[in-house]
Amino acid sequence: MATNASPELVTFQRQADVLVVTIDNPPVNALGVDVRRGLAAAIDAAEADGAAAAVLIVGAGRNFIAGADIREFGKPPQQPSLPEVCSRIENCSKPVVAAIHGAALGGGLEIALSAHYRLAVPSAKLGLPEVQLGLMPGSGGTQRAPRLIGVKAALDLMLSGRHAGAKEALALGLVDRLGEGVDALAEGLAYAKELAAGKAPVRRTRDASAALADKDAQRAALETNRADTAKKSRGLFSPMKIVEATEAALSLPFDEGMALERKLFLQCIDSPQRAGLIHAFFAEREVLKAPETKAAKPRAIESCGIVGGGTMGAGIAVAMLDAGLPVTMIERDEPSLARGRAHVEKVYDGLIQKGRMTADAKAAVMARFSGSTAYDALAKADLVVEAVFEDMAVKKAVFAELDRVCKPGAVLATNTSYLDIDEIAASISRPGDVLGLHFFSPANIMKLLEIVVPAKVSADVVATGFELAKKLKKTPVRAGVCDGFIGNRILAVYRQAADHMMEDGASPYQIDKAVREFGYPMGPFQVSDLAGGDIGWATRKRKAATRDPKARYVQIADRICERGWFGQKTGRGYYLYPEGARTGTPDPEVEAIIDAERQRAGITPRSFSDEEIMRRYMAAMVNEGANVVHQRIALRPLDVDVTFLYGYGFPRHRGGPMKYADTVGLPKVLADIREFAKEDPLFWKPSPLLVELVERGADFSSLNQSE
Ligand code: NAI
Repeated sequence: MATNASPELVTFQRQADVLVVTIDNPPVNALGVDVRRGLAAAIDAAEADGAAAAVLIVGAGRNFIAGADIREFGKPPQQPSLPEVCSRIENCSKPVVAAIHGAALGGGLEIALSAHYRLAVPSAKLGLPEVQLGLMPGSGGTQRAPRLIGVKAALDLMLSGRHAGAKEALALGLVDRLGEGVDALAEGLAYAKELAAGKAPVRRTRDASAALADKDAQRAALETNRADTAKKSRGLFSPMKIVEATEAALSLPFDEGMALERKLFLQCIDSPQRAGLIHAFFAEREVLKAPETKAAKPRAIESCGIVGGGTMGAGIAVAMLDAGLPVTMIERDEPSLARGRAHVEKVYDGLIQKGRMTADAKAAVMARFSGSTAYDALAKADLVVEAVFEDMAVKKAVFAELDRVCKPGAVLATNTSYLDIDEIAASISRPGDVLGLHFFSPANIMKLLEIVVPAKVSADVVATGFELAKKLKKTPVRAGVCDGFIGNRILAVYRQAADHMMEDGASPYQIDKAVREFGYPMGPFQVSDLAGGDIGWATRKRKAATRDPKARYVQIADRICERGWFGQKTGRGYYLYPEGARTGTPDPEVEAIIDAERQRAGITPRSFSDEEIMRRYMAAMVNEGANVVHQRIALRPLDVDVTFLYGYGFPRHRGGPMKYADTVGLPKVLADIREFAKEDPLFWKPSPLLVELVERGADFSSLNQSE
């Protein structure tokens, strides 16, 4: 009887006339080199074992195979390659069955597609998510998936990277049979025995033709996808390669299609976008590891309170309600409370209107919401988030009330954007319970949550902040206390760089365009118009007294705000928004204001290339990012990256500003800063960390520890 007794990652053992091949490579059965070797050996064993009439491939643990081992990317290839293993499976002379439970993703699904028969139990998730890492299926996925399920469905999976459940996979033709229970091994074994008993033929996906039979319809689907992809994935590398490879499935023999797939796959591997996206993938997992989450257990959070039902308070309430938590909202008077509740209801009414929620579901959610103007209603809350006006005196008054009514051990959090949380904490009797939870607007949608850690806070309170982020499905980033924490502090600096360029001769419209072409969804002046110019104006006024009188201060934004032009909500800001329009058009009057300000400041405008705009914009962002890491406001450069990916629309394929700086090369970034410093040495002060890294010949990624 064929068996391999050693504790291998792939084991095989015959059960009756079926050789059962089990992949056991925790945690997710990734297809590292040893698994690939084991699979190849298992197929050899199946061929050699005269008593084996069929082969069954299953995964141990909670998944079939979650994908390739992405840590191997960019390293020298080790044999056998995954395409080779897939082809060995496909060419097996005995019927091979894949029984799928849990994840069959990427290379995992490509293994399954190389089997001759597929069964999925209800827990199965099938997908080809390579696109999310700047890649494409590279082990026959682009050639086998269309042959099995047609161009349209295959492209949908490969371009979106989404997962299909077992039922959908059956409907698509991705699997042949739906299992009923949880035991993929038992169901797969029964299926394999049945196939062996019926002398079922080997059925190679490479030879499948039915799904592609209607060539005209298939080609039409391909062209529609090509046009959509060119529009939607502008600037992204791998989606068009996926379309190109899929076209080969339609027009070339299988082996030629495979050769093209390999060529395109290697181009994706070499693309900086792949490096950026994989960095983002690791970084968003790495941010979950903070010293406090290792040192302490979170406190229980079963009910929440919110103080302030404005833009942020209402959004945070929705995020908590969506996570199944009961929420009590405190407002200063009944009319404000009614507005707060209405804000919350409006979000759900919007979902009802779009058909994404039923009235009954809304009623069930709102049953967990209560409001009061009396703080005593917070007596039982495990965690309270304060989101009142950005004013230290108001916040301290609120915290005094929380100190009075909240139970011992309750976490008392503030959503302040800029204020000193150490000062807030010091004003009450339990500073160890005070934490910053800085949400982003709209708080029920934006994924970033800065967990701001004041000096006196207990580790378990910080750990509770991370736990809350998990419950709310947000991405937490640990930040230290300073003016603006990680994100807004860096934003303030590159926003000034943009203002400087505007005053020196670039129009806000050109700057926005350059920033969009870099990959952001919006430029900084469009963002101001969306957020409301009055918010930044209020901050500038508050900070006027502490501003360095020698520092350059561009007054254009103040001139625009003085006219009451606060952006979209007032119909004009930097742009004009005629009657309800959401995209603005350039405003000649704004250009006139800019000209007048240039004259007042004695500046002769010069022209900027888009490339110079981005060089300055990014140099300002990276330099302040380096300061933030240097001062331990961010634990590592990757925390800055994740902040910008999730809170500020930074293009994911560039990995974040610090990763981008590594890609450009830190010596080049530093040289730019030194060149810009010749005009304005006060603004362009090279960060000591940047200088040190360049001197050592190191880069930011060297500070990302476990990467
Ligand atoms: P907002 O003006 O929309 O809402 C503030 C709410 O607090 C109002 O409904 C007001 O009635 C209520 N309030 C004021 N004093 C109160 C008191 N003593 N007791 C109970 N309720 C009181 O302001 P917004 O935009 O929601 O901002 C709230 C906080 O969130 C501020 O600290 C702000 O800096 C911060 N923040 C704002 C962001 C934004 O994009 N708007 C983003 C992240 C943080």
